Amino acid sequence: MQALTALVEQALAEVGGCTDLGALDEARVRWLGKKGALTEQLKSLGGLPAAERPAAGARINEAKVRLQAAIEARRERLGREEIERSLAAGRIDVTLPGRGETRGGLHPVTKARLRIEALFRRAGFDVATGPEVEDDFHNFEALNFPPNHPARAMHDTFYFPDGKLLRTHTSPVQIRAMLERGAPIAVIAPGRVYRCDSDMTHSPMFHQVEGLKVGEGVSFANLKAILHGFLQAFFERDLAMRLRPSFFPFTEPSAEVDMSCVFCDGKGCRTCKQTGWLEIAGCGMVHPNVLKASGIDAERFSGYAFGAGIDRLAMLRYGVSDLRLFFENDLRFLEQFRTL
Ligand code: PHE
Repeated sequence: MQALTALVEQALAEVGGCTDLGALDEARVRWLGKKGALTEQLKSLGGLPAAERPAAGARINEAKVRLQAAIEARRERLGREEIERSLAAGRIDVTLPGRGETRGGLHPVTKARLRIEALFRRAGFDVATGPEVEDDFHNFEALNFPPNHPARAMHDTFYFPDGKLLRTHTSPVQIRAMLERGAPIAVIAPGRVYRCDSDMTHSPMFHQVEGLKVGEGVSFANLKAILHGFLQAFFERDLAMRLRPSFFPFTEPSAEVDMSCVFCDGKGCRTCKQTGWLEIAGCGMVHPNVLKASGIDAERFSGYAFGAGIDRLAMLRYGVSDLRLFFENDLRFLEQFRTL
């Protein structure tokens, strides 16, 4: 009996010392399991004289019940403590002020595009679109690029296995617009274009805006006037513009458009490489072959076309020096245009 009392004391002490549910379960197995110390006591009853067995059995059972109750109580307490611990760890103070939400804004390139669209709409141009996945006919052939002409190679075209391609310029939209609507027509076509080229000033995807006006008596002077008027309106200031002779298969004559540098007003700086001029667009009179390929009577109608880089216009307007900043989507950069 004394041994039993000592055993129970030891078991209770052990249970009381368990600090987690796993240890408590191990203690339970050690004392009350099939091979547990108290179970062994019950088994040893058989060795006692018959007269002593009932009393001894009753005491052992009593001890068992006591120990079970102690384990249960401990289990409940440890469980409660565990819940309290995890609640304390995950506590949030719902009375703290929230982090707030910053308002989004349009991307600078989108802003520039919308500005360009608004200005040309005011001058009577519609906005036209075309697919970014183009075919050779619209991107090259109808634009008077002869087969194997070196100008095709100049475009660093991305080709698909089926012969389709990512348009290298917005000029194919000229063809689509003329085939769809005929003449007279005045459209601009802003959109993404692709060339296999990448550095400080070139991105494999960039944005162009195409302009096309075809009608009776449309002249080179009209082209010069619309471009100069557009540049002054876009940059909201007086600036000089000049045209340099150039070559494009789809225009004749062709010219490169320069405007006086918006950073130094033509005095010469790093941006304009000390020339005072910034190259801003290509342009020219629509080649008769292009009108013919688009189903337009080249004897009756004439037209002009131009193509400018929207990203470059945005860089110059907002004073951004690296084209790649536009396409990294770093919020610290983009946030600065929220209110512009
Ligand atoms: N498509 C030409 C380019 O991407 C630009 C251009 C458009 C030139 C229209 C003349 C007329 O370089």
